[in-house]
Amino acid sequence: MSQYSAAKAAVEAETFEEDASLSIPDYLEKTYWWAYVRPWAVRIFEREWLVNLILWGFYKPLRDLTLQAMGSAIAGRTLKISCCYGQLEPMLAAQVKAGGGSLDIIDIAPEQLKNARRKLTRFIEDGVVTLMRRDSTDLDLPDDFYDRALIFFLPHEQPEDIRRQTFYEAFRVVKPGGQVYVVEFAKPKAWHPLKYIWHPVLCVLEPFASPLWTHEMATWLPRGGAGCQIKTKKIFGNFYQLVTVTTPKG
Ligand SMILES: C[S@@+](CC[C@H](N)C(=O)[O-])C[C@H]1O[C@@H](n2cnc3c(N)ncnc32)[C@H](O)[C@@H]1O
Repeated sequence: MSQYSAAKAAVEAETFEEDASLSIPDYLEKTYWWAYVRPWAVRIFEREWLVNLILWGFYKPLRDLTLQAMGSAIAGRTLKISCCYGQLEPMLAAQVKAGGGSLDIIDIAPEQLKNARRKLTRFIEDGVVTLMRRDSTDLDLPDDFYDRALIFFLPHEQPEDIRRQTFYEAFRVVKPGGQVYVVEFAKPKAWHPLKYIWHPVLCVLEPFASPLWTHEMATWLPRGGAGCQIKTKKIFGNFYQLVTVTTPKG
């Protein structure tokens, strides 16, 4: 079985736990066990209104901005690096189906993949969506395979070296001339009132997030994004950003 067919077979696995070489990374278990890793966490957080509240009402605008940027009918192969709560994934899958494309979603946490399977059943049955248990730092997928990848609020949850490796892998699997979309926090404008409330909260709950407030996304891209075309759209007084990176053509 080829590397990719083996990966596709993983969608059928009941538990997503078969691969003994994979485990929940330390930073995820220690910092975010309450948000992603436990089954009860999924039962609490899989509510779009709650995620919207946590993002100060901006989950839906960010979700829609992302979907609009990626296009209403998405052809070719799309990779989503890590799951997220809410309706982004079913809505993205619908756009991929409309374009005749395919969508692969990876995550390291079995509970997240099971949750995604519940939300995406019909797209999995149609053969549009494949779920795979993978570490973002070692995707074990072929080079230059995907037309695009989406990373939605993952970098701020990863330590610096892991964040860089996640980007390295994203750029490795995306074809030359393809896109990597990144949705994240950004450096808020000086006048932003949340700057003073949210930053201390982030420092406690999200200890790896503060560099996103002080550095441009290119900081963590391979070779600082050299040769890539980088388009950044910031919203809500620069609190959030959608960065679209087009990789250099071959
Ligand atoms: C995308 S991020 C944040 C999502 C955002 N808070 C939301 O729900 O809208 C959270 C996901 O990243 C996954 N994750 C964290 N580190 C990972 C890694 N090294 N490889 C794959 N998935 C990872 C977690 O398991 C979790 O499902």
